[in-house]
Amino acid sequence: MKAFEFYMPAHMYCGKDCILENKEVFRSFGKKALIVTGRQSAKVNGAQADIVTALESVGKEWVLFDEIEENPSVETVVRAAEIGKAENVDFVIGIGGGSPMDAAKAIACLVANPEKDSSILFGEPAPHLPVIAVPTTAGTGSETTQFSIVTLHEKRTKSSIAQKIFADASFLDAKYMEKLSSSTTNNTAIDALTHLIEAYLSAKANFFSDKIVEIGLDIFQECMEALQERKYSFEIREKLMMASTIAGIAIAQAGTSLPHAMGYFLTYEKNIPHGRANGILTQAYMELFSDKTKVNKILKHLKMESLEELGEYLKKALDEREEFTMEDVRYYTEEVMKNKAKLASYPYALEAKDLEEVYKKSLLMP
Ligand SMILES: [Fe+2]
Repeated sequence: MKAFEFYMPAHMYCGKDCILENKEVFRSFGKKALIVTGRQSAKVNGAQADIVTALESVGKEWVLFDEIEENPSVETVVRAAEIGKAENVDFVIGIGGGSPMDAAKAIACLVANPEKDSSILFGEPAPHLPVIAVPTTAGTGSETTQFSIVTLHEKRTKSSIAQKIFADASFLDAKYMEKLSSSTTNNTAIDALTHLIEAYLSAKANFFSDKIVEIGLDIFQECMEALQERKYSFEIREKLMMASTIAGIAIAQAGTSLPHAMGYFLTYEKNIPHGRANGILTQAYMELFSDKTKVNKILKHLKMESLEELGEYLKKALDEREEFTMEDVRYYTEEVMKNKAKLASYPYALEAKDLEEVYKKSLLMP
C-alpha cells in the first residue's frame, strides 16, 4: 500500500433541524458572528432564521453580510471583511452553496489579520477566525474541505486560496434544499460526482480516499434516476447531501483534477455553473485517463456499462449547452497549461494537445 496522510478535523451535525437541536454548540464560539450569505436563498430556505435563533438563544450578537455573489471575487471578500473588522466579530458563519462558505473562510482569515491586505490569502499560513458552515446545496463539500475558491478578475479565472481553512462546525440539514430549483440541484450534484471521480483518479488518491469515494459513488448512484427525472424526495435530498459531503472528505485528501482546472475557464468566460462545467468535461477526461481499471471501477459503482453511457447520462442530467469555438479551446488550453499545481494531480504526463482534445470532444462535438 502507498504511504499516506489523512487529516479530517471537521465536526459535523447532520439531520433535520440539526441547528435548532444543537443550539448549545454556538455557546463555545465567540461573542459576535459575521453571517455571510447570498442575497436570497438563506432567507427563503430558513437557514438564516435558524442560525439567528440559535445565536440569540445563547446570547451571541451577529451582523449580516448578504452580498456574496456566485463565484465570489476577492473584492467582495475584502468588503465583507471590512465590515467584520469594524463590527469586531470573532467568528464567521457561511450559509449557502460553495460561494458563501468559501467566502466565509477567506473573510475569517482577513478579519483575523486586520493589518494585512488580501495578498495574505495567497501567502504563508496565517491565523483565521473560527468558521461555521451551513451548506444549502449538495455539491461543493466546502463544509468538510480546507478549500476556499475565489474569483480573480485580473487573471480571468477562479483559484483556490493558499490558506487551508476547515470549518470548526458544520450543520447538514437537507430541509434547506427542498426549494432548490432542478437546475441548481442537478448542477451541484454533478459537482459532487466530479469530486468523487477526480479524487479517485488523482495522483494524490490513497487507500482511505478511494474507499470513501466508493461509498460516495454508491450513494450517488441511488440518486441518479431522481436527478434525471428531476424529482427529489426528502430522502433523495438527504442522500445527495451525504454524497456531497463524502465527496468533500475525499477531495480534502486527494484534491480535484483536470475537469476542475479546465472548467474554471468555462465558468469565468461563459458563466457556466461550476458543476455543469465539470460535468461537460468528464467523459472526455475519463477517456483520456490511462488507468482503465480505476475508470471501470467508477462505472461499476455507478452501475454503468461504458463511458458513453455515463456521457449520455450527464447530458440528460445537465441543462442545455453553450456554443464554443476553436479559438475558445486554444485559449483555455493555453491557460490551463499554466496551472502546474492542478496539473500535478493528474498522474500521467500531459501535453497541451491532450487538454485540447478533451476540450474539443467536450465543447465542439455535438
Ligand atoms: Fe467542485
